[in-house]
Amino acid sequence: MAKLISGKEVSAKVREEVKAQCEQLKARGIHPGLAVIIVGDDPASRVYVNNKKKACAEVGFISEEYALPQQTTQEELLSLINELNNNPKINGILCQLPLPSHLDEKAVINAISPEKDVDAFHPSNVGKIMIGDYHFLPCTPAGVMEMIKSEGIEVKGKNCVVIGRSNIVGKPMAMLLLHEHGTVTICHSRTKNLKEVCAAADILVAAVGKAKFVTADMVKPGAVVLDVGINRLENGKLCGDVDFDSVEPKASYITPVPGGVGPMTIAMLMKNTLMAAKLQNGLE
Ligand code: GUN
Repeated sequence: MAKLISGKEVSAKVREEVKAQCEQLKARGIHPGLAVIIVGDDPASRVYVNNKKKACAEVGFISEEYALPQQTTQEELLSLINELNNNPKINGILCQLPLPSHLDEKAVINAISPEKDVDAFHPSNVGKIMIGDYHFLPCTPAGVMEMIKSEGIEVKGKNCVVIGRSNIVGKPMAMLLLHEHGTVTICHSRTKNLKEVCAAADILVAAVGKAKFVTADMVKPGAVVLDVGINRLENGKLCGDVDFDSVEPKASYITPVPGGVGPMTIAMLMKNTLMAAKLQNGLE
């Protein structure tokens, strides 16, 4: 039986710490502010944005939502980002992805000032992560690391396998495990012998985007399994990238879905926004 790492519990601790630090900043006249941009009416994005705003209120941040219509032009979006870059009340800017297909995501990410890039998606922040000299970490991989640390699980020298090579999760996840001295393998759709590679992992991170992709035969007995997936099944239920029922008895630790990595992502966004407010006020 695996021990469950609860994202609800670990994220609550992170948010409490952010809230306490936010109070200290407010006492010095600094009120952290996050701008959240959402374009169109993707229902999943709407849920995520609502949760982000709720978390801001909880920790004491100002949050401003910019809900733009589906047909927003690239120029309109870039003009809003430019305004927010120059707005001293806004410390962090987040543009919820994915964007409608007529918009250029890369150009949007590049337009956000690196100092306000609380997603850590800007190439300048990605480069800083690569060399291990950073202020912002991408929220989901940072949340996974926080969960690993919360249990005192050592990464040093361990075989770490990340399934998925996205810019948002897979690639930065691998880098963070490497910073902690893990021996890291990144797998993807063209990986040969995927099952064997995964079955050698002491720490296995699933970020594939396919429901129940990781099955028990892909997991080493006693492995630590972290599930980044959030997939909706036909019956409406949420489910991860890991086949929880078959993998759980074999793992030493596992994260559930829901209530695992999901809440961590938002907590780490709060941490980044706090950091942005400190940096912009010369406090870090
Ligand atoms: N869409 C899915 N995850 C994320 C995220 O972490 N940040 C943003 N901006 N969009 C997302």
